[in-house]
Amino acid sequence: MADLKGKVALITGAGGMKGTGRAIALKLAGEGADIVLTDVPRPPDNLPPQEVKAGWRSIESVAEEVRALGRRCLPVWCDLTVSSDIRRLVEQAVEHFGRLDILVNNARALMGQDRDPVTSLREEVWSRFLAINTTAPFLTIKHAAQVMQKQGGGRIINVASEASKRGRALTAAYTTSKFGLIGLTQCAALELAPHAITVNAVCPGAINSDRFNYAEQAEATAKGMTIEEYRASYVANYAKNIPLGRIAEPADVANLVAFLASDEASFITGQAYNLNGGTTFH
Ligand SMILES: NC(=O)c1ccc[n+]([C@@H]2O[C@H](COP(=O)([O-])OP(=O)(O)OC[C@H]3O[C@@H](n4cnc5c(N)ncnc54)[C@H](O)[C@@H]3O)[C@@H](O)[C@H]2O)c1
Repeated sequence: MADLKGKVALITGAGGMKGTGRAIALKLAGEGADIVLTDVPRPPDNLPPQEVKAGWRSIESVAEEVRALGRRCLPVWCDLTVSSDIRRLVEQAVEHFGRLDILVNNARALMGQDRDPVTSLREEVWSRFLAINTTAPFLTIKHAAQVMQKQGGGRIINVASEASKRGRALTAAYTTSKFGLIGLTQCAALELAPHAITVNAVCPGAINSDRFNYAEQAEATAKGMTIEEYRASYVANYAKNIPLGRIAEPADVANLVAFLASDEASFITGQAYNLNGGTTFH
């Protein structure tokens, strides 16, 4: 048990019905934290079909689940490409709850449009990945850490990736943005250590989340499969190369985040923990 009673946690990218952000929010709420949820409104053709079918309402639906656990919850719509939105997000969290103890940078740019070689990768796609995956965590940390400094401590957890440690072809924008997140984690950890604020990253391999991915959607259509069939076959194939025999579930990420958010992790900072079933070790 992490015992987060009395703490307030802010989680970005928290609206997905089968997303990692939702799992993190419910885990931290289950450990006693009050929750600020944020995400960006997305049109139906940018959502997993299951969410549309279920009438899922992103952070509004997750907020209902958090409240059902007996915790307070503030859902805030915020576009992480807009600097003033991010400053306002942190201000709203503090105005509403009077404090901010835990920040989880979980959001990322929608995947798939980046799957090009560097020779043809569009600059606007590159910039969007850097903006959402690297610059936005810098800005959330910038504003949240000022609040945490006044409070005398805090926890910052960045959801990075296996791609933070190893490049793969056709992922230059995503990989670079996630390598950058590790640099940000280490620098912020050193600067904020005197204030008892820890900053760590978690580095999952493939997660069984129901993310929207332009490239996977196109591949599924080309193969005459639904996105659910495509994803099931992807998950089964990927698992064959993982020593522990399965890909990560959102709950696996949430469990590690909850530990890093707890008092028990007070001596851990600047680290980037693998969560990949044994595929890589550095
Ligand atoms: N899914 C995987 O296989 C995998 C593997 C390794 C690491 N990760 C990391 O785990 C985290 C969560 O993954 P997931 O699969 O649940 O992600 P996802 O792609 O389903 O969700 C990302 C969330 O970010 C939000 N978002 C996108 N653009 C935004 C913007 N401009 N402003 C605000 N929010 C925005 C989306 O709306 C979405 O809710 C990410 O940081 C991802 O890089 C995922």
